[in-house]
Amino acid sequence: MPARKRKPHVAVVDWEPAPASNSGAELEAKTIGKAAVVKYYLAATEADFTPAILRSDAIILWQNTTVTEVSIAKMTNCRVFIRNGVGYDTVDIAAAARRGIPVCNVPDYGTEEVADHAIALAMAQVRQLFPLHREAMSLGWKLHVKEKLRRLSTLTFGIVGLGRIGTACALRAKALGFRVVFHDPYLPSGTHKALGIGRADSLSKLLKQADVVSLHCPLNAETHYLIAEKELALMKPTAYLVNTARGGVIKKKAVLAALRKGVIAGAGLDVIEDEPLKTKAEARTPNLIATCHAAFCSVEGMIEMRTTSARIAKQAVLDQPLDNVVNGL
Ligand code: NAI
Repeated sequence: MPARKRKPHVAVVDWEPAPASNSGAELEAKTIGKAAVVKYYLAATEADFTPAILRSDAIILWQNTTVTEVSIAKMTNCRVFIRNGVGYDTVDIAAAARRGIPVCNVPDYGTEEVADHAIALAMAQVRQLFPLHREAMSLGWKLHVKEKLRRLSTLTFGIVGLGRIGTACALRAKALGFRVVFHDPYLPSGTHKALGIGRADSLSKLLKQADVVSLHCPLNAETHYLIAEKELALMKPTAYLVNTARGGVIKKKAVLAALRKGVIAGAGLDVIEDEPLKTKAEARTPNLIATCHAAFCSVEGMIEMRTTSARIAKQAVLDQPLDNVVNGL
């Protein structure tokens, strides 16, 4: 009797019972249908990968589970890693490529949400919403922060990384009346003309002129600690720093110290190096607004992201061409 062909397995790997994933993988199972068995696993690190995960044919990874050469070497059937999100810095894509395993991401499910969130963080700072809220809630009415409130059309909104999210943010900032300037060494000449915004040919030129600096570049060896003590010192003391990209793009120690010393006026951080914040002292940093790596989050975006990841997993188990491969295979 011929050996029965094993049905492909798709592992959906989460790092903790995260509110974003709604635990379970019903949506993924529905999208993949009869093409594979779909199972949900919790694995905070790759050391927690069970034999079933290591034997899976396709692995969908939520945001914090890191995959290195160590576990990639143990994968016996894996045909694809899918990062359920945009950033894929948690997966060693070169090690996966050496083993012939494509890595895919979902690059566009949250473009609008992240741009909206960056603008929200920037506007909360520029309009001083939280100090005003605290004053109103303590039954005060003195506008202690009135000297900080400025007309948007006199302010420059600086964007680092004018990709999908950076462009969406630029269009929003422009519509609000800001003068918009970007720095992105990888875009062709004339990009600023197409969008009707300014261009800074170096990061330092952008930092010196911007009243808001919003980061939208990926985290990689080049952008790790792109903003540290030296760069913060170039910013205006009245300027605000917004990060919805990745925590490691800003040196946490440097930005928290800059806020305590008044080197910059404030920061709005959705992502923070070594997130979440670790101590009450960190959380009490003056003029810091932090959100919980939530910029991507919306009901609609989550459905789009999970459905796209599942569609790619299905492509892999059916040996079809894969969407969104990021490691050149
Ligand atoms: P994208 O790939 O469309 O754009 C990134 C841009 O950064 C590109 O134009 C690239 O040329 C530019 N860039 C690369 N190195 C640079 C450097 N050294 N200086 C200036 N610019 C540089 O990516 P997308 O979709 O716009 O996403 C941007 C980042 O946002 C992602 O890498 C991800 O880490 C982050 N993100 C955060 C989320 C959140 O929930 N907070 C959710 C989704 C994405």
